[in-house]
Order: sequence, then structure tokens, then C-alpha cells
Amino acid sequence: MKYVVLAAAMLAAAATGARADGDAAAGEKVFKKCMACHEVGASAKNKVGPELNGIVGRPVASIAEFKYSPAMTEFGAGGKVWDAETLHTYLADPKGLVPKTKMAFAGLKKDQEVLDVIAYMNQFNEDGSIK
Ligand code: HEC
Repeated sequence: MKYVVLAAAMLAAAATGARADGDAAAGEKVFKKCMACHEVGASAKNKVGPELNGIVGRPVASIAEFKYSPAMTEFGAGGKVWDAETLHTYLADPKGLVPKTKMAFAGLKKDQEVLDVIAYMNQFNEDGSIK
């Protein structure tokens, strides 16, 4: 009986589509908006933007081979890390957080999209393997 109740609760949650935290599967679709410039995974390379393996918890502007804007380098000074909260602020409004970032992206409008894409990226270790 317990399981029936649990299943019903899960269905109800799925039906509303609203989740308190991110959904990695939904985030994979959101990440398509980033793929013109960014890669994740074992074969990820720097493109217009740096590869994003292990980005959740990675120090800001820390990919040595990537040429960051002076603004991003300065933002990362002192070892600032991309925790979930900082990433959320950046992805919702990149220029709001780092006014002169060279990331030409307007930002994700929906809070849920931001949560989902962070959950998707959080699946990758720094070497591109899946956690
Ligand atoms: C048009 C290209 C473009 C798109 C689209 C884009 N980015 Fe970026 N992104 C960049 C560039 C360029 C930088 C480097 C910014 C700088 O140096 O100021 C960057 C930087 C970043 C950083 C900081 C990386 C670090 O090493 O500190 C994160 C995180 C990031 N992007 C996530 C995303 C996500 C997630 C998306 C999709 C929702 C996205 N970006 C869409 C070009 C893009």
C-alpha cells in the first residue's frame, strides 16, 4: 500500500512539472542552447566557450588553455568557485553578474531551466566521466 501511495505522489509531482531542484534529463535539453559554444563529456573541448566538465564546484576561469575575458578573470580572482548559487545567478543573467563577460548569451528566462541545466552539468566529473 505504501508503494501505491508513493507512486501516486510521484505521478502527481511529475504531472505538475514543478520540482524543487533540477531534473538532469530535462537539463540535457536545455544544454542544447549552450552547445554552440560549450561541450561536456569525455571528449569535450574548448570552443567559443570553455569546456564545462565538473563546472559545479570548479574555480571560475580556471581552464588554462582558454582565453577568458579580463572581466571573467577578475571575477574569479581570489579563487572564487562556481557553486550552484553563483552559477544560477550567472545563467539567469550573465551580464548582470559579470557585466563585461564575453559570453554572448542573454540568459535562461525560466528558473526551472536554470535548475535543470545545473543538474545536468553536475553529472560530469572534471575528466568528463559521469559521476
Ligand atoms: C554564444 C556562445 C555561448 C553560449 C550560447 C553560452 N556560453 Fe557560456 N561562455 C561563453 C564564453 C565565450 C565564455 C567565457 C566568458 C568570459 O571569459 O567572459 C563562457 C563562460 C561560461 C561559464 C564560466 C566558465 C568558467 O570556466 O569559469 C559557464 C559556467 C558557462 N559559460 C555556462 C554556460 C551555459 C550553461 C550555457 C547555456 C545555458 C552557456 N554558457 C551558453 C560562450 C557561450
